[in-house]
Amino acid sequence: MANLIMRTANSAMDWFNERAPGFMPFYRKHMSEYYAPKNFNLWYIFGILATVVLVNQIVTGIFLTMHYKPSAAEAFASVEYIMRDVDGGWLIRYMHSTGASLFFIVVYLHMFRGLMYGSYKKPRELVWILGMLIYLVLMAEAFMGYVLPWGQMSYWGAKVIISLFGAIPKIGPALTEWIMGDYLPADATLNRFFALHVIAMPLVLLLLVVLHLGALHEVGSNNPDGVEIKKGPKGNRWSPTAPADGVPFHPYYTVKDTFFVAMFMIIAAFIIFYTPGLGGLFLEHDNFSEANKLVTPAHIKPVWYFTPYYAMLRVVPDKLGGVIVMFAAIAVLFAVPWLDKSKVKSIRYRGLISKIALLIFAVSFVWLGKIGGGPGTDPVETIVGRVLTVLYFLFFFTMPIWTKIDKTKAVPERVTMHD
Ligand code: HEM
Repeated sequence: MANLIMRTANSAMDWFNERAPGFMPFYRKHMSEYYAPKNFNLWYIFGILATVVLVNQIVTGIFLTMHYKPSAAEAFASVEYIMRDVDGGWLIRYMHSTGASLFFIVVYLHMFRGLMYGSYKKPRELVWILGMLIYLVLMAEAFMGYVLPWGQMSYWGAKVIISLFGAIPKIGPALTEWIMGDYLPADATLNRFFALHVIAMPLVLLLLVVLHLGALHEVGSNNPDGVEIKKGPKGNRWSPTAPADGVPFHPYYTVKDTFFVAMFMIIAAFIIFYTPGLGGLFLEHDNFSEANKLVTPAHIKPVWYFTPYYAMLRVVPDKLGGVIVMFAAIAVLFAVPWLDKSKVKSIRYRGLISKIALLIFAVSFVWLGKIGGGPGTDPVETIVGRVLTVLYFLFFFTMPIWTKIDKTKAVPERVTMHD
C-alpha cells in the first residue's frame, strides 16, 4: 500500500515537473537549498510571524467582507450584526482587530532587529527599502481599516488625520476635500477607504512582501554576528559549494519557526478570547459608539501603533511644522543604510556609543508613544515630548558621526553559536 502511494506521488510529481519545469528549481532556491546562517536567534522569527499575521488578516478580512456593509448608514450596524448574529462572527472580527495590533508589534520588533544587527547595510539596502515601503503601506492599510466600523474614533480619527493635508500651502484644502470626497468624512470617504483597504492595499502589500523576500534571497540573510556567510568557507554536509555556516531553510528553520508560530498563536488566542480590546489599547472604548459628527470624543487619538508619530505632531506648536516633523520621522528611516558609516554590522561588535544611541532611540520612540496616547494637555509632558522628538531625530542626524568614531571589536571569521 505504502509502495503504491509513493509511486502515485512520484508519478504525479513527474507529471507536474514536466509541465512546470521551473517550479522545483524555484522551490529549491527559496526553501531546501536556501542556506540560512545557522546562528539565528529569537529575533529572526518576526519576519515569519509577520507573514503569518498577513495571511490571518487576508483570510479573516475575506469573511468580514461577506457581512460588512460599506456605507455610512449601515457600517456600524453591520459590524454589530457580525459580532452578535453571524455564526463565529465575533471570533473572525477579533482575530482581525487583534491581528492588526499584533502585525505592528511583530513589524516593530522585526525592524528593531534590523537596526540591532545592521541588516540594512550593504548588500541589503534594497531589502530595507522594500521593508520601509511595506511599513508605509501597512500604516495606510491600518488607518483605512480603522475607519470602516464607523465608530466615533473611526470618524474623528479620519477627520483629524485627513485634515492634516489641509496644512499644505495652496493645495491643502482642495486636497483634503479630494481625499474625503466630501467636506467631512462621509459615505464617499467610507466607500473609497473600503475599496482601498480590501483590495488595492493588500495587493500592493503582497507584491512588496514577495519582492522583499526575493531581494533577501538574492543576497542571503544577515545574522546576529553580522558575518557574511557567503564570503566564508564553503562546503557543508548538504552541498560542497554552499556556505559552511549555512543550513537549508527547509527543514531546519521551517521546523524551528513552526514551534514559535505555535507559541505566538497561543498568545494571540489568549488576547482574542480573554481581552480583545486590551483595555482600550487594541480597540478603543469610543469606537463602540456610532460615528456622530455633532459629538466630539473627549480625547481624539489614534491606535497605539501610530501614537509616537501623533505625539510628534502634537508637541510641535505649528500645524504645518508638526505635519512635516511627523512625515520626516518616518522618511528618515529610509536613509538609515546610508547614514550608518560603521565598519561592522552587528551591535555585538560595536562600541558603547552605538549601544547607548540605540537604547535612547528605542526609549524615545516608546515614550513618545505613551505621550501620544495621552490627552496631550499636560504642559510638562509637551516639553518632554519635544525633548524626545529631538532625541529621535538626533539618533539619525548624528548617526554618520557616532558610527564612525565609535570603537568596534574584531568581527569573527565565522558565525558564533550561543546556547
Ligand atoms: C508585512 C511585513 C513584513 C513581512 C511579512 C516581512 C517578512 C520578512 C521575512 C520572512 C524575512 C526573513 C526572515 C527574517 O529575517 O526575519 C525578512 C527579513 C528582513 N526584513 Fe522584513 N518583513 C516585513 C516588514 C519589514 C519592514 C517594515 C522592514 C524594515 C523597514 C523589514 C526589513 C527586513 C530586513 C532588513 C530583513 C533582513 C534581515 C536579516 O537578514 O538580518 N521588513 N522580512
